Amino acid sequence: MKVTIVGAGNVGATCADAIAYRRIASEIVLVDIREGFAEGKALDITQTQTTLGFNTKVVGSTNDYTKTAGSDVVVITSGIPRKPGMTREELIGINAGIVKSVAENLLQHSPNAIFVIVSNPMDTMTYLAFKSLGLPKNRIIGMGGTLDSSRFKTYLSLALDKPANDISGMVIGGHGDTTMIPLTRLASYNGVPVSQFLSEDALAKVAADTMVGGATLTGLLGTSAWYAPGASVSYLVDAILNDQKKMIPCSVYLEGEYGQSDICIGVPCIIGKNGVEQIVDINLNDAEKALFAKSADAVRSMNNDLGSHLA
Ligand SMILES: NC(=O)c1ccc[n+]([C@@H]2O[C@H](COP(=O)([O-])OP(=O)(O)OC[C@H]3O[C@@H](n4cnc5c(N)ncnc54)[C@H](O)[C@@H]3O)[C@@H](O)[C@H]2O)c1
Repeated sequence: MKVTIVGAGNVGATCADAIAYRRIASEIVLVDIREGFAEGKALDITQTQTTLGFNTKVVGSTNDYTKTAGSDVVVITSGIPRKPGMTREELIGINAGIVKSVAENLLQHSPNAIFVIVSNPMDTMTYLAFKSLGLPKNRIIGMGGTLDSSRFKTYLSLALDKPANDISGMVIGGHGDTTMIPLTRLASYNGVPVSQFLSEDALAKVAADTMVGGATLTGLLGTSAWYAPGASVSYLVDAILNDQKKMIPCSVYLEGEYGQSDICIGVPCIIGKNGVEQIVDINLNDAEKALFAKSADAVRSMNNDLGSHLA
């Protein structure tokens, strides 16, 4: 099983490291535009083989896509972060250009690959990839809900003072501070609704902390996080390559599901060897439905900033 990751920066390299160490794929190709950078990251990861006990082949490439040929899964993390003074439209314009050209190069060399989009604004970049590649919707998956859900479960575990792996919970909607929807009503501790253990105020704080989860880390680190994002991508890639049929919230193209069409946004999906194998339509209550519709409006307004990139 071969995985290509474009963008050997913080998230891309951490994802490669996790996929290698967890033996999810037999070969990983890291690609970056910075001369020698991906080769360096690949060599560094390779030099952990004997101490960590894995044999995954990790190869680096400076923009040579021939090395990516025949990948089963391709992950796009290339892009730039928003800089001071830069408008949202400017950021979308720059990252859209990068994501579109990278996606086209990848498709040329790996015509059967499943695409995982990580670059921000992720829902909009996933929509762009879907519209420009012309692939069936099951092969274009935006990663954001995996990360947001792991942050949600972390904050629930801290509030409950119980092990994180005994907690179940999902975040749907857009992958943004104001657009994500932590489903507190459906979260559970070993099958028991968390509302039996936490007050409404405590649950509201968990939801609020989850929503600013990324911004909190950016404030602490001075740049956006990478361990949890990289691990989240590896979790999604594992579900695809090992046909796990896991239910994972992912940004996917909707055609009427959740009352929305012509948009990529986070909804629960069954993920397996074909990528998105099913979109799970869960029963949201009226308040959750209203939040989802508002989130979709915000994502759609960002999609409008794609302008000529959609042509
Ligand atoms: N979806 C999520 O949950 C999530 C989480 C964290 C970060 N992100 C996003 O992921 C992206 C990467 O974040 P990061 O922290 O790794 O950034 P980073 O700056 O550390 O890495 C980005 C890498 O992309 C490379 N790059 C730029 N243009 C390229 C091109 N045309 N071809 C190949 N490589 C190119 C850069 O050289 C750089 O090494 C950002 O857009 C970030 O906002 C998304």
